[in-house]
Amino acid sequence: MTLAGKLRQILPAGIVLTDSDALERYGQDETEDLVFKPAVVVKPVNTVQVVEVMRFAHQERVPVTPRGAGTGLSGGALPVEGGIVLSTESMNRIVEIDTRNLVAVVEPGVITQVLQDEVEKVGLFYPPDPASRGSCTIGGNIAECAGGPRALKYGVTKEYVLGVEAVLASGDVVEFGGKLFKDVTGYNMTQLFVGSEGTLGIVTKAVLRLIPYPPFRKTLIVPFAQLESAATAVAGIFQAGVVPCACELLERDVVRRIEQHRDSGLRFPDADAHLLIELDSHYEDTLDRDLEKIAEVCESLGAADILVADGPAKQKELWDWRRSAGEAVKSRSVYKEEDTVVPRARLPDLIRGVKEIAARHGISTLCYGHAGDGNIHVNIVKDGMDDHRWEAELPGAVEEIFRFTKSLGGTLSGEHGIGFSQKRYLPIVRTEAEIALMRAVKAAFDPLGILNPGKIFP
Ligand code: LAC
Ligand code: ZN
Repeated sequence: MTLAGKLRQILPAGIVLTDSDALERYGQDETEDLVFKPAVVVKPVNTVQVVEVMRFAHQERVPVTPRGAGTGLSGGALPVEGGIVLSTESMNRIVEIDTRNLVAVVEPGVITQVLQDEVEKVGLFYPPDPASRGSCTIGGNIAECAGGPRALKYGVTKEYVLGVEAVLASGDVVEFGGKLFKDVTGYNMTQLFVGSEGTLGIVTKAVLRLIPYPPFRKTLIVPFAQLESAATAVAGIFQAGVVPCACELLERDVVRRIEQHRDSGLRFPDADAHLLIELDSHYEDTLDRDLEKIAEVCESLGAADILVADGPAKQKELWDWRRSAGEAVKSRSVYKEEDTVVPRARLPDLIRGVKEIAARHGISTLCYGHAGDGNIHVNIVKDGMDDHRWEAELPGAVEEIFRFTKSLGGTLSGEHGIGFSQKRYLPIVRTEAEIALMRAVKAAFDPLGILNPGKIFP
């Protein structure tokens, strides 16, 4: 009997998909143009069904690749060894919004923005906001420890995960943490699942911390004549005592591509880079004072204009504009995205170095991202380069960029994960002993290596 036939015997109708459309769709995520078709896709609706799938897969030694919404950028959800793709998208209930304890209990398939909108209705806030928040899911966010612009002030996904229920490779269910703000009962197993890229277990429920929603905000865009001055301003803003909720940098060619892609946008043609800064607060008056300090820093670095977007409609427009950067960069050329991160004050060095390395290899880079976090997405675009040179130059250039990032005290992924596409570079930043330790953790959770195989480890 086929794999799908056997799965249909243990799962209700409609859960197991084998049509070629599904296999194609679930064989890719948002990582470059990589496609690995699975043998079968399952979309369980509850934990019991996830347990059934894993028990079966364990017994038959079939690889299982867990998947959120497939918006990942390091190939974490690609079924590189075939087998089963287990999509958690149908487990999409918000189980509870507990307004007395300020926590939410959710299933993994809840779309991040849906949760944000729901908690906002009761004055609460779930801050992590990856660019894909309109389509990505909490389960995927936990698997990758997703970030986003607001990580700057509020932290990334890990800061909000208080507890998880997870199904292990064996089909056993474990529960760690809960509605507790303190818990030192043994190892911090809850956090081990965060950022584990679906290699240790499948999170089937999560307890998430919420905070009060800050109702006042100002969003500004500051064009700079020099990319480096924009990068220098970032640390300066913090040194002036201001913690914006977002501080994003986009270099000129990224802005151009967004404008072409959206056929709209900002018009500061002379600006080498833009900072998109947002301030939020529970009190309106602090915003103006912080805005003044930011203006001083930016002006001292040569910024001539500051455009303030007042009101939700204009703010949304700016953020839609920013969130489309990834899509705009991808839409016109083959590309390879690197997710470099350095200590914030090394940002100008990072950008200068990346540009030097790129020039030496004759490649083009488009840089944008979460400057306040020292986290810059370096997109290497092929554009007109011929295939032969692209293949010849790319690996060396990427490796040099990562070695350079490491020399600044940084690492090779801030928020996109290692997954499939970055695993060959892991030894640049992790020693043999460190990788062996991580492998031992993996083996303790999944001795047969059936859960998301072919990921993280080189
Ligand atoms: C962004 C995604 C690519 O920052 O992380 O737009
Ligand atoms: Zn990002």
